[in-house]
Amino acid sequence: MQHFLVAVSAAVLLVGCSEQVSETATPPDVSTSQATADPATTAVDKARLTADAKAAVMELGMTLKTQLQTAIKSSGPAAAVDVCHKIAPAVAESLSQEHGVKLTRVSLKNRNPDMGVPSDWQRSVLQDFEARKAAGESLDKLVYNDVVDGEHRFMKAIPTQAVCLNCHGVDIKPAVQAKIDEYYPNDRAVGFQEGDIRGAFVAVRALDGEG
Ligand code: HEC
Repeated sequence: MQHFLVAVSAAVLLVGCSEQVSETATPPDVSTSQATADPATTAVDKARLTADAKAAVMELGMTLKTQLQTAIKSSGPAAAVDVCHKIAPAVAESLSQEHGVKLTRVSLKNRNPDMGVPSDWQRSVLQDFEARKAAGESLDKLVYNDVVDGEHRFMKAIPTQAVCLNCHGVDIKPAVQAKIDEYYPNDRAVGFQEGDIRGAFVAVRALDGEG
């Protein structure tokens, strides 16, 4: 565990070069201001919540990507499956605690059978992302942000890049596939192509004192 924490802190220090999470600030008015929005949450609060959620999600994305690239470079994609398997849930957990939000990664075609399965509202957002992509919207604009049922909900689409195809693509090497089968007998996270939506980061914060 100690070793893991050191690795994570090292990865956090290394961030900033190859990150794909968009750096464009989300304007505070991206919300759809639906009837479900909590009127007690002002626009200013919401802008801050959004900025916090975005920072947490970006740190998760950068940390995982650094770990992944390091693992692939040093030991190849089959061994990197072990790293993803062990590290991804633990990094999400430790950054959740650090940021005071619940961080996960979900997908309509998930690999992780626990953390990867979207809830009903997350599934709707993912389906909406697919529809927006089909209508021509660029993947880094696919963000959802709202206050519903006493919680702030933030989601950001994760694009499939070339490196991802090693483990989520169409033509997966047998050694890699064997590792995936070993850990994830019900894996659904294959068959992706570059530019597909692989899934989304999720950050949820319970809002205190709001019922
Ligand atoms: C070395 C193999 C490997 C590569 C390369 C890889 N992944 Fe994964 N991916 C995994 C494994 C293993 C899991 C399951 C981790 C877990 O147990 O939480 C996973 C899970 C995920 C999840 C969580 C949702 C789910 O399906 O359970 C997302 C999102 C994801 N990967 C996106 C990506 C993206 C984007 C890339 C490219 C930048 C990528 N992965 C590259 C192995 C890989």
